[in-house]
Amino acid sequence: MRILTKIGRIDIAAAVLLCALSAAIGLLAQTNLTGVWILRVPRTDGTFNESFFELKQDGEAIAGTMLGNRETPIADGSFKDGKLHFVVRVGAAGKQQRETAYDGVLDGGKLQMTQTVPGRDPVKSVAERSTREAANPARLPVPDLRDVRDNGLARTPPMGWNSWNLFAGRVDDKTVRGIADAMVSSGMRDAGYVYVNIDDTWEGARDADGNVTGNLKFPDMKGLADYVHSKGLKIGIYSSPGPKTCAGYEGSYGHEAQDAKTYAAWGFDYLKYDWCSASRMYKDEDMQAVYQKMGDALLASGRPVVFSLCQYGRQDVWKWGPQVGGNLWRTTGDISDRWQSMDMLGFRQLDIATYSQPGHVNDPDMLEIGNGGMNGDEYRTHMSLWSMLSAALLAGNDIRNMSEETKSILMNREVIGIDQDPGVRPVKTVSQQGTAVVLAKELSGGAVAIGLFNRGDQPAEISVNWAAAGLTRAIQARDLWKHEAAAAAGPSFTATVPRHGVVLLRASAR
Ligand code: GLA
Repeated sequence: MRILTKIGRIDIAAAVLLCALSAAIGLLAQTNLTGVWILRVPRTDGTFNESFFELKQDGEAIAGTMLGNRETPIADGSFKDGKLHFVVRVGAAGKQQRETAYDGVLDGGKLQMTQTVPGRDPVKSVAERSTREAANPARLPVPDLRDVRDNGLARTPPMGWNSWNLFAGRVDDKTVRGIADAMVSSGMRDAGYVYVNIDDTWEGARDADGNVTGNLKFPDMKGLADYVHSKGLKIGIYSSPGPKTCAGYEGSYGHEAQDAKTYAAWGFDYLKYDWCSASRMYKDEDMQAVYQKMGDALLASGRPVVFSLCQYGRQDVWKWGPQVGGNLWRTTGDISDRWQSMDMLGFRQLDIATYSQPGHVNDPDMLEIGNGGMNGDEYRTHMSLWSMLSAALLAGNDIRNMSEETKSILMNREVIGIDQDPGVRPVKTVSQQGTAVVLAKELSGGAVAIGLFNRGDQPAEISVNWAAAGLTRAIQARDLWKHEAAAAAGPSFTATVPRHGVVLLRASAR
């Protein structure tokens, strides 16, 4: 009896085990990962970085793409014994290429994922089934083109600060308040820098009514706006016409009017509107209409809001920026804190300079002055060139902690005066000999700003003929970096200009 019972028990246990095993094997055999998956990686600010993958399983082989602004093929894909593996390589082959390995374990219909980038800690997250529509929403209808009423703002180029160049994703409420304090204590505000602009990564989830909220780094957007206003400053915000911003945060897609109202209710005075993921559902030809939609929404919000277009100069934006209500429009890709970047972006503006006018200006991107990647001569060139171009002066450095040299560059009121000249007249090229470039800009009251720029790697003697710069009478001139009179006698002026440096003059009839 005893023996029998024992055998019986063993039999039952074995049968249960067999059953479970065959069920598991059956499940694995049946499981096919084919379809769209969303991978949600939590960020410390309470939001998620979402990516979409479309997988195609064939036996143990996995192929497919990472969906996004571009579709990137996945490589080395396999699914064996419930374990998924694939690799995504972004960028051209070589040093620049970034490779991410994705490993997943199937767990009740979800995938427990580990994401590994060489040299970094692995990141754990969960992938769930999703749809192609969630990854690439359908294109919303766009309005017919017509002219948006001019908001009357920013008659001279906007001046202020923006968080992106230095802080990028590390910006938070405390930093913005600290910057606002420093804008006052450093003298920046009184020199004309009034906008304190929060760039990307402030955005949180939408609430049940679809209202956008700040994330954990920005718990009280209205309170923050009130604080910045209490310092005699204005405050700016950032969004995208796409579902996601460039850093992968919540965009305004399908919520344009609602978001404009929210920004106005919080008290924001400036919006930078960045194309980013809008390229997933709109064509480049839709851009004007898409920007017009937000231009209208800002006007309808009832609050005066400077409208800053950011779509990297595509579609000849300088030709239609004012029609969509734009006060400024980026004409370039992103600046970086290097001479080559600043030099290339700045001097590339000369051909389109005639499109800038009071209230509507080309934007060659924000300032890098004080961020450490260029020397004093190069930063003086940056400030001088942006001022000759009548570009927005949006400092991108840590205002709370500036060297005397940085202060002397950003707060050179004589140079700011060139930028802020109410005529917003287009800069002209007086001469260009190799890397020696002489630019002139007519100022109100008959004066002329003249910049002698040395783009070369050696000091150079650069001359300007007064008449060629538009000054035909006997003149007087002032050196705006030395803050002293310049030798104006004779028909021309010559200076030795340091490598990557500038001599900036304000010349007028005597
Ligand atoms: C784009 C813009 C930048 C900045 C980032 C934020 O790259 O051109 O100026 O706003 O997005 O993600």
